[in-house]
Amino acid sequence: MSQVKDEGIRVDGKYEQAPSLTKERCEEAITFILGQVDRNLETFKDTFPSEASTDNVYRQVGNTEWTPAFWTGMLWLAYETTGAEKYRQAAENQLGSYRQRVEERRYTDTHDLGFLYTLSCVSAYKLTGNEEAKRVALEAADLLYIRYLEKAGIIQAWGNLSDPKQQGRMIIDCLMNLPLLFWASEVSGDRKYRDAADSHVRQAAAYLIREDASSFHTFYMDTETGAPKYGSTAQGYSDDSCWSRGQAWGIYGFPLSYRYTEDEELIDLTKKVANYFLNRLPDDYVAYWDLIFTGGPEERDSSAAAIAVCGLLETSSHLPLTDPLKRQYENAASHILESLIDNYMTRDVPSSNGILLHAVYSKPGNNGVDECCIWGDYYMFEALVRVTRDWKPYW
Ligand code: GLY
Repeated sequence: MSQVKDEGIRVDGKYEQAPSLTKERCEEAITFILGQVDRNLETFKDTFPSEASTDNVYRQVGNTEWTPAFWTGMLWLAYETTGAEKYRQAAENQLGSYRQRVEERRYTDTHDLGFLYTLSCVSAYKLTGNEEAKRVALEAADLLYIRYLEKAGIIQAWGNLSDPKQQGRMIIDCLMNLPLLFWASEVSGDRKYRDAADSHVRQAAAYLIREDASSFHTFYMDTETGAPKYGSTAQGYSDDSCWSRGQAWGIYGFPLSYRYTEDEELIDLTKKVANYFLNRLPDDYVAYWDLIFTGGPEERDSSAAAIAVCGLLETSSHLPLTDPLKRQYENAASHILESLIDNYMTRDVPSSNGILLHAVYSKPGNNGVDECCIWGDYYMFEALVRVTRDWKPYW
């Protein structure tokens, strides 16, 4: 990890000042989000929003993809911010769907179990002490643990473990799945989940982060020898470019592991990854979909911006007051958040049932390009809750 270069913050003075973002503006944004949640409450009672919108409108889908829990997570955030029972009931009503998915092993050949069960079930357990949610989340952690490949020291991202095309492939997004494993060790007392997560985060740091502090989206390991093979992309511009959302997953994922391990090297690495990201933001602070672009007609990815805000705030919370980056990361988070509030919310698009415009799911796949993406909406809500309240993460 120490071989990774630190660019520092190169954009002179850009993050020295906080913007004029007030708590009231953040509260107004939360009020707008709650209005959208209310509007969707009946539609997505027994179904879930599609991963990305079409013409800024989410369709109803089943509990099959990696994304349904971003909606359930928003219901929990709505419950926490208002105390209104309707949100708790709506979130609890969906627990059966997550239980069924894990018990019937439907669409569980994925590392995304972390996203899915942290925001739906760990959240339910942490907020309400729901024992059934805890049991289901532990079962999901067991399925995630099965994906740990001991020789390679990683959790395989996608597909059946015997599928040669996917074998030994880790992806940067997986950092967000590790909190489920850390949590499982805490509540079960069994260290195996934590050891797997710890090993994965070290391998991710060693191989997914390049020497210049940019990231590969995905990296293959040899599952027999444990040797590193090569990096490649799935959703970025090219194998050697830096997919913006991947870098944002790094900015948020590494400090989340730090919460559990207190390994200072993870914070050092996060700073380098964050600086690389911040140095490549355009004037309005919202990244293009790949950091190879810093101007021009390419699409932004507002969802990467919202994830980065949460990550910068998480990182800053672990830095001492004496570290100048603490304030700079808070300022950077505020600049990004202000821009999202002012220019990217769906306020002026009344037909939309989403929250954040101008996200990109997969540009190479031509899927959800310049649309709302449900995780962008979730992280926008989480970011606003973080800056307005003393919030304890579900992660
Ligand atoms: N985890 C999938 C994505 O970020 O698109």
